[in-house]
Amino acid sequence: MPTTSVEKAIDDQIAKEFFASHLYLSMAAWFEDQSLPGFASWMRVQSEEERGHAMRLFNYVIEAGGRARLQAIDAPAIDFESPLQVMQESLKHEQKVTASIRKLYELADKEKDYATQLHLQWFISEQQEEEKNVGDVIARLKLAGDNKVALLLIDGELGGRGPEEEGEGGE
Ligand code: FEO
Repeated sequence: MPTTSVEKAIDDQIAKEFFASHLYLSMAAWFEDQSLPGFASWMRVQSEEERGHAMRLFNYVIEAGGRARLQAIDAPAIDFESPLQVMQESLKHEQKVTASIRKLYELADKEKDYATQLHLQWFISEQQEEEKNVGDVIARLKLAGDNKVALLLIDGELGGRGPEEEGEGGE
């Protein structure tokens, strides 16, 4: 069973994952409003994945014999300046989540909670992948600059993203 401090830190992480899901859904709504359905669909998938991350931790705590205590979720931003700014915000958020997962891992290490450390390893590689995915979109948006046709091409490509295989322990 996770120690009290690890359990509390997992609860905090669950809240962060649910907030990320909320934030990305809000970004999806903004993209819909901008007539960019591909970006919106990409963000919807991202939002679902974040919910999956929260559920993965939620299920872990319960299966480990602990108790998950849900917290309030802050309201996300609803207005953005440009597709590039949205993606940059998303990357910033992912970097915060990565730092938070690392802290949680370090705490589990300090408390000799090997089971939690093992569980968190999936999150460490997932964060690496997520930062790369968002970084790739940012790089393409920078290349496109003010070219609307290029923006629409990126929108078309992003619309083709399907839900990813989360593997065992996901939602
Ligand atoms: Fe679950 Fe992308 O942080």
